Amino acid sequence: MNIKILKISVPIVAIAAVAYLIFSPSRYVGYSPDQPIPFNHKIHAGDNKIDCKYCHIGVETSAHATIPPSSTCMNCHGGAYGNVAGKQEHVKWLNQQFDNKTPVPWVRIHDQPDFVFFNHSRHVQRGVDCSTCHGNVAEMVKVKQTKSLNMGFCVDCHRENNAPNDCSTCHR
Ligand code: HEC
Ligand code: HEC
Ligand code: HEC
Ligand code: HEC
Ligand code: HEC
Repeated sequence: MNIKILKISVPIVAIAAVAYLIFSPSRYVGYSPDQPIPFNHKIHAGDNKIDCKYCHIGVETSAHATIPPSSTCMNCHGGAYGNVAGKQEHVKWLNQQFDNKTPVPWVRIHDQPDFVFFNHSRHVQRGVDCSTCHGNVAEMVKVKQTKSLNMGFCVDCHRENNAPNDCSTCHR
């Protein structure tokens, strides 16, 4: 690379890297933002053994796992039904939001850049466990990103499993 290109490209790469850090703060191991109300996976998926798929209904059939709407929570926490933990402050709040038809603004944790294509169903149908990419969520009081989910992580496993690995598999 000649010095002229180097002079131009170094600042460009630096700017891109800074922009990346500013605009995608969520993509790193250990990221664990506060949620509007604490949602405890250990109580639900761990202690009470509620299946991941009961709430994340998309994992087997679509690209996105999806976050459950409040109506799913109301199956247990709604006044008309069991009203589990109904006296609890956060459950009361959840009911108010539901009655006002206001969705809970859950904060996104795992988030790939837009130029990456990922598909849950392809992996889950092949028997790849959630924990391979998300850690042991059933034991998490608060969800935390535990894997980098960077390109090396994806490509290594694809190579080991003879999964499609050309660039257009993940970049479209
Ligand atoms: C009772 C419903 C419920 C069950 C059961 C449940 N989840 Fe969740 N999950 C949620 C809600 C609500 C959120 C959003 C709030 C949060 O991040 O804690 C979430 C968030 C997540 C996230 C982070 C999403 C993001 O923004 O990146 C992952 C990963 C996840 N769940 C995996 C699992 C796995 C794996 C299981 C089974 C072991 C499971 N969940 C069981 C309701 C549920
Ligand atoms: C299949 C039943 C079921 C569903 C569906 C369910 N929960 Fe729960 N939830 C429970 C049980 C059981 C407890 C524990 C109650 C206790 O220990 O008294 C609980 C406790 C809670 C608590 C209070 C305890 C705490 O400290 O976290 C909150 C808040 C809560 N759930 C939020 C949610 C949200 C949000 C959803 C929907 C994304 C949801 N739940 C869906 C069964 C359910
Ligand atoms: C091969 C890796 C991998 C596996 C296996 C996997 N996930 Fe994910 N998951 C991801 C990636 C990557 C993202 C971010 C996707 C994006 O930004 O488009 C994600 C995002 C999520 C989200 C955030 C909302 C969404 O739809 O993107 C939830 C919830 C989630 N996963 C739950 C699960 C559950 C539950 C399982 C098991 C049934 C599972 N995941 C299995 C890699 C995986
Ligand atoms: C634990 C191993 C593993 C990891 C980690 C993994 N994959 Fe995969 N992936 C597979 C396997 C196996 C298949 C083939 C599934 C099939 O045959 O249906 C696959 C299929 C895919 C497909 C569909 C390919 C097609 O046929 O069009 C995409 C897209 C994909 N993966 C993207 C990703 C991305 C992006 C990541 C990283 C965030 C990732 N994968 C991480 C194992 C993995
Ligand atoms: C199995 C999925 C997968 C395949 C195959 C794949 N990539 Fe990626 N790529 C990713 C993911 C995920 C990222 C997100 C950035 C990161 O954290 O590494 C990425 C990021 C990138 C970036 C942005 C720079 C960076 O590292 O952040 C470039 C450029 C890139 N890929 C090029 C390619 C080329 C060229 C190929 C083919 C030789 C390819 N990728 C094949 C998953 C894949």
